[in-house]
Amino acid sequence: MRKNIVAGNWKMNNDLAQTETLITDLKAQTQTSNAEVMIAPTATNLWQAYQTLKDTSGIEVIAQNMHFAENGAYTGEVSAAMLKSVGVTTVILGHSERREYFNETDALLAKKVDAALANDMRTIFCFGEELADRKAGNEEAVVEAQIKNALFHLGADAFKNIVLAYEPVWAIGTGETASPEQAQDMHAFIRKTLADTYGAEVADNMSILYGGSVKPANAQEIFSKPDVDGGLIGGAALKATDFYAIVNAF
Ligand code: PGA
Repeated sequence: MRKNIVAGNWKMNNDLAQTETLITDLKAQTQTSNAEVMIAPTATNLWQAYQTLKDTSGIEVIAQNMHFAENGAYTGEVSAAMLKSVGVTTVILGHSERREYFNETDALLAKKVDAALANDMRTIFCFGEELADRKAGNEEAVVEAQIKNALFHLGADAFKNIVLAYEPVWAIGTGETASPEQAQDMHAFIRKTLADTYGAEVADNMSILYGGSVKPANAQEIFSKPDVDGGLIGGAALKATDFYAIVNAF
């Protein structure tokens, strides 16, 4: 059975004190759903967040990014081993902001995914089309290429440590959400793409998250779709009550 997951991507928000405040607020919330809950604070606050949450909370602390190399002359970067040394075993890779502002390509992301897997880390792999792609009717081709280029060199077993996150670029931080039907159609297409190469078991067990302006007001309808297994939440993850309204929308 695939898992339901709600992950908060805090992006470059919250210094250490603000991180502690938001975590305190999150711990005060009540979870009524069965979703796995994750938060991705900025790299400097991962250790503190992990220490605060590890024993009791059921909230996993995850990273927003990492480098593919084990170590070495990569100024400013963070490796898988470094993340693991501060308690982090899941990493978001391929977010559209990384692709757009830091020139991350499918080929680079394939190396990062390999590094995560080699370190026994779980990857939340993000992808999604731009508005021009959708207007031209190319959204499925774009998404298929992103997934195949970065992931389809892997063996079937590797997919146990991968979660997919479909995030149409035109819906991220814009207030515009894909309709529940648009999300469902794409998620079904992604699952079929997996099934065609790796078989029904890999496809059925894959958690496919939707991301892009998910809010308390629209979460339930999006999550009600059969191929939507959760959400990657940006803006609404910065307020504990909003985030848990989304977590509890399952
Ligand atoms: P948003 O961001 O919820 O603010 O649209 C989603 C994301 O970038 O993961």
